[in-house]
Amino acid sequence: MDKKERDLAMTRILVIHGPNLNLLGQREPEVYGSLTLEEINRQLEQKAQELGVELTLRQSNHEGEIVEAIQQARDRFGAILINPAAYTHTSVAIRDAIVAVGLPVVEVHLSNIHAREEFRHRSLLAPVCQGQIVGLGAYGYLLGLMAAANLTREGRPKRQK
Ligand code: DQA
Repeated sequence: MDKKERDLAMTRILVIHGPNLNLLGQREPEVYGSLTLEEINRQLEQKAQELGVELTLRQSNHEGEIVEAIQQARDRFGAILINPAAYTHTSVAIRDAIVAVGLPVVEVHLSNIHAREEFRHRSLLAPVCQGQIVGLGAYGYLLGLMAAANLTREGRPKRQK
C-alpha cells in the first residue's frame, strides 16, 4: 500500500451496529429512543460530511460477522465506532479482534449501561477501546464519530494493557 492509499484509509471510519439495533425505533423506545437505525445513520452521514471523513455503515446480529468486519478493517480504516449491543457484555472474540487490528475504537451505547441491570455494567470491550460514550442516546453516536475522526488524525493508539 502506498502513502496515498494509506492517507485515504485514515479518513475512513467503520461504524458497526451490533445485534438488535436493526430494531431501533420499535425496540424499547423508553430505553433506546424513537429514532430508527436508518435515521441515526443519516445523522452520522451528515456529521461525517462536516468532519471530512468517509463512513462505512454495518449492522449485524452475528458475532462472527462483526469479528470479520473488524479484522478486515485493518489498513482500510483509520478508526472504528462500534455499538456492540449485547456482545459488549459477553464477547471475548470481538475484544480479541479489536486488539488484533490495533485500530482506535470508540465504544458507544444509547442507554446508560451503568445505570441498568448489573450484567450490563461490565464491558469486556471497554478496556481495549480508546473511550466509551454511554447514556446520551443518538447524540452519543455523533460524539463518538467526532472522537473517532479525531483519533484518525492522531494515528494508531499506543497499546493499552
Ligand atoms: C446497548 C446496551 C446493551 O446492554 C444492549 O444489549 C443493547 C444496546 C445500548 O446501545 O444502550 O442492545 O448497547
